[in-house]
Amino acid sequence: MTAGPPQQVGIGVLGYNGVARAHLLAVQRVATIFWPPAVHPLLIAVAGRSADRVEQAAQRYGAQAAYPDWQRLIDDRRVQVLINAGPNDVHAEASLAAATRGLHVLCEKPLARTSGEAAQMRDAAVAARIVHMTGYNYRFVPAVLLARRLIRDGRLGRIYHFRGRYCDDSMIDPQVLYTWRHTRARAGSGVIGDLAAHALDLARFLVGEITAVSATARIFVDRRPRREGGVGTVDVEDAIEAVLEFSSGAIGTLEASTFCPGRKNFLTFEINGADGSLVFNLERLNELDLFLREDGANGFRTVLVTEAHHPYGGTWWPPGHTLGWEHTFVHQLQRFLGAVAGQSPIAPDGATFEDGYRCAVICDALDRAAREARRVTVDGPVTPERTA
Ligand SMILES: NC(=O)c1ccc[n+]([C@@H]2O[C@H](COP(=O)([O-])OP(=O)(O)OC[C@H]3O[C@@H](n4cnc5c(N)ncnc54)[C@H](O)[C@@H]3O)[C@@H](O)[C@H]2O)c1
Repeated sequence: MTAGPPQQVGIGVLGYNGVARAHLLAVQRVATIFWPPAVHPLLIAVAGRSADRVEQAAQRYGAQAAYPDWQRLIDDRRVQVLINAGPNDVHAEASLAAATRGLHVLCEKPLARTSGEAAQMRDAAVAARIVHMTGYNYRFVPAVLLARRLIRDGRLGRIYHFRGRYCDDSMIDPQVLYTWRHTRARAGSGVIGDLAAHALDLARFLVGEITAVSATARIFVDRRPRREGGVGTVDVEDAIEAVLEFSSGAIGTLEASTFCPGRKNFLTFEINGADGSLVFNLERLNELDLFLREDGANGFRTVLVTEAHHPYGGTWWPPGHTLGWEHTFVHQLQRFLGAVAGQSPIAPDGATFEDGYRCAVICDALDRAAREARRVTVDGPVTPERTA
């Protein structure tokens, strides 16, 4: 006697380019990798702005409907989950509308342009009793989860330092076109929300809450050509250097910049504790460099995080058969659908809207610290822990 097929959950994806592609691929893969699935995702619709292109995307990814505006996607009664992969200025509006209709929401990071907007989203999601998740997908890299396990098991001892960097060279050419990412009105911030937010979320995930920040930021190229002609004025930071203070007493640094030639997706952190250190680099995401003082004079060793006893070990392939960036979105979606099915909460492994809000508060503090050239206390993230 076999169990009946899992319950189906209708998915709507806002966006189909950029990171939306990773979500669309995750919708296709998740139920085959995590079998039997908690619920079976059914791609109902994709939404964009151009009727032709969104229709092509629907065909490409097997969606039943293509909508040239996201409101119609949310109004489609078959859609029970919104994956919001639009630009930052669409996060709050579409997610709030979805929450009002009782849709569960997985929204890309940064959760919102400001902490105020993020608080609204969190409060609406909690009031509507929906499952809510912020797309901090790097929590689902097996090597990051192994780092967390080692820290939680006390293998590093008391943590002294977190040293995070997220650097690429995507804006080094002054002819790179002006987009939504270059305007505070649409993006909220520059590299703070775009890159640093990921490192901040990992800092919170691995080391704990951040209580104060100091920072310096720069705009290196303040005018960029527009696709339609003319130039746009860049009013968000291209780079930030910051100092972080943690509630545990640890201190750290954070650097984010799109002006680092040769760096492509260089999200890296080093954590130093009383008994050891670990280093992670997203460009080599299957590896974790580990130094444990108890090992004596052996130096750092590189652990290939693909063994059966490692996080997600054996889920995909045998040991040594490595994973990539896209797999983090499959892991993330599995966690989300497990919560939709009522089997397991989003937190603590996944980021809820509460986590998205707390990260937004730190982003605001970094922005203020850089503008006012002073140390800023992180106030705000004092609400009780809310889980999905
Ligand atoms: N988690 C990650 O690793 C990761 C990586 C990249 C981007 N992001 C986040 O994802 C979001 C999107 O970034 P991106 O790089 O994919 O941007 P993008 O500009 O490449 O793509 C944005 C998508 O949204 C669509 N879109 C724009 N305005 C819309 C509207 N009003 N209605 C419907 N669709 C609309 C566009 O057609 C496009 O498909 C951002 O919030 C970004 O911070 C996260």
